[in-house]
Amino acid sequence: MEELPKERYPTSMPSPFDTLKADIASAKTLADLDKLEQDLFGRKHGHLTLALKELGTLQPEERTIKGKELNALKQECTALLDTRRKQLQGAALGSLAESDTIDVTLTLPQRERGHLHLIPEFIRNVEDVFGRMGFEVAQGPEVETEDYNFNLLNIPDTHPARDAQDTFWISEDSMPPGGRYVLRTQTSPMQIRYMQKHQPPLRIICPGKTYRKDADATHSPMFHQFEGLMIGEDVSLANMKAVMITAIRELISPKAEFRFRTGFFPFVEPGLEVDMLWQGDEAQSREGKWLEVVGCGMVHPNVLKNCSIDPKKFQGFAFGFGVERMIMIKHQIPDLRSFYVGDLRFLKQF
Ligand code: PHE
Repeated sequence: MEELPKERYPTSMPSPFDTLKADIASAKTLADLDKLEQDLFGRKHGHLTLALKELGTLQPEERTIKGKELNALKQECTALLDTRRKQLQGAALGSLAESDTIDVTLTLPQRERGHLHLIPEFIRNVEDVFGRMGFEVAQGPEVETEDYNFNLLNIPDTHPARDAQDTFWISEDSMPPGGRYVLRTQTSPMQIRYMQKHQPPLRIICPGKTYRKDADATHSPMFHQFEGLMIGEDVSLANMKAVMITAIRELISPKAEFRFRTGFFPFVEPGLEVDMLWQGDEAQSREGKWLEVVGCGMVHPNVLKNCSIDPKKFQGFAFGFGVERMIMIKHQIPDLRSFYVGDLRFLKQF
């Protein structure tokens, strides 16, 4: 049998593969390397591709030997390409690190950072402080029925809170028939709404907007309150005072000065008010003065009955804090209207 040549290419001439391998090892750029890869593996004219195609024309025995050789060659070339590519990439990064320096001392224009308005910020704080005392947050509508805002709270027609001076009534033709509607004058209707749905024991606070026809340095037609309600079998006035005092100290300052005095609200008995010392405009009033901040008291038996809760079995207290007034005392702000004018010079102070 005729002896088969070891190499398809005569050994005296360098095979194109030797040249290509040398070129890969000394390639200067990634683009050069891509070109060499094409020369080897290109689908139409790649040397290796062509050599592999040629296998089909060989005798079986020769094909086995040649096939093994070409496979080894293919693996060698792939490894060579891979190594060189990594070297070139590393070098490219290295030179980038040298040329592209970062100036860490460069000062960039400051980004303006905003913050919550004083009122929502304070309300979050309220939810946090009362949350730690076991109170849940409940919310209700700002447009209320006359029943919820007044009647069910034991507020008779003759009470000054019902005076046309105080209340925004909603024109009847804009509302569903069957009752009169108001912009709630207080958050107290939430006491009724909640107790109609939940049996004691219960502890809630209800922050939100309230509306009255007033406007001066300590009144605004829209202002915020948060209602509180705690009902159980043996909830006492002493418990109420403890909750009030804890809230004031946590929300304003441990040194806040306040006083309890009796006050009348038809839906509590007895009723109390809490005043706090308010410097107002310091220059104008060095003595300081007392500002009414909280109305509170033991929930009236009629209110419990209106919610089908037995006043012989359950009792408790309710309170309503004026949010703006508390913040005024906390930061000694002289005029409540500053909260709403949107003057950044005012808002940025806090
Ligand atoms: N709702 C009363 C007000 O707005 C405050 C209050 C709430 C008083 C709960 C007693 C109990 O003035």
